[in-house]
Amino acid sequence: MLATDFSARLIAWQRTHGRHDLPWQNTRDAYRIWLSEIMLQQTQVSTVIPYYARFLERFPTVTMLADAPVDDVMALWAGLGYYSRACNLHRCAQVVAHEYGGAFPQTVDALAELPGIGRSTAAAIASFAFGVRATILDGNVKRVLARVFGVEGFPGEKRVENAMWTLAESLLPDAANKDEVTAYTQGLMDLGATLCVRGRPDCARCPFAPDCVANVEGRQRELPAARPRKAVPTRKTWMLVLKDGDSILLEKRPPTGIWGGLWSLPEAADEAALAAVAHSLGGDAQLQRLAPLSHTFTHFKLDIEPRLGEARGAPREAASAETVWAPLARIDSYGVPAPVRKLLDALTGSLI
Ligand code: ADE
Repeated sequence: MLATDFSARLIAWQRTHGRHDLPWQNTRDAYRIWLSEIMLQQTQVSTVIPYYARFLERFPTVTMLADAPVDDVMALWAGLGYYSRACNLHRCAQVVAHEYGGAFPQTVDALAELPGIGRSTAAAIASFAFGVRATILDGNVKRVLARVFGVEGFPGEKRVENAMWTLAESLLPDAANKDEVTAYTQGLMDLGATLCVRGRPDCARCPFAPDCVANVEGRQRELPAARPRKAVPTRKTWMLVLKDGDSILLEKRPPTGIWGGLWSLPEAADEAALAAVAHSLGGDAQLQRLAPLSHTFTHFKLDIEPRLGEARGAPREAASAETVWAPLARIDSYGVPAPVRKLLDALTGSLI
């Protein structure tokens, strides 16, 4: 799709189907626009509306906000969350009131220097307040671009984000007039907030449906790509189920580390080492293979290779304070890690 096509279709859609009556629209007052954009950074429209009204009532101008005690600003912000925004809001008001004589600067670069105003927010303020041809790229816009243009990769990744900035800049309409700039910027926001939503996008009503990569390929759920899951490392361990009659040898785990303080099975790092452990505990040399199982912890996956051995003539009292012969039927009364428990439960059926 040509860039001119994209912007023309978006502007036409915004004018007929976009939002036109939000409290911060239909004004070019930079103070009102800035206040709304800060509040909307991490908070949805319906939550922002009453706060926005209270702020404007209490602080009708940027200078009144600047000169208010910070505690008053924080108190009025209470409930909106992300309180560093309120702190920066107050600091920004002071810079505008006292260094810019109460008038917001009109360029994206100057706006982006102010506390709490990033690149996208600066562009939103510049385009809404001053009709500046400027590129926004917030979470909603990233979703729209990823879907319409089939941008692959997680948008939180720098490389992908940079590509999206370049794409977003290439799509800006030639600035014919300020109202078009405003309609275009608002259109991007409106499309992302009302049709091209995260969960179930309403593609049937979208002006880009025939050309949208996600829609055409049925990949709305895959685009934009989710944050990549870190691959979890895998550890492997051999566990000994040493059986004497209807009892199993359990070993108390050290107090720290995984399963700290729980009763578990003797372990070794490989097959041969486990045979040595079995031998030292009076088990027979021939260990029987049991079905492997794995358990996923937050930071790694544990593959367990269980081996069954019979204690031959080992004195049952040989167990130290840190080991115990536990009757299989009473495993419940010991604190045993879930996967070990599962393993022993499976054995209970077959052994007794
Ligand atoms: N989110 C961020 N800016 C917005 C705006 N101007 N209108 C609606 N939602 C927004």
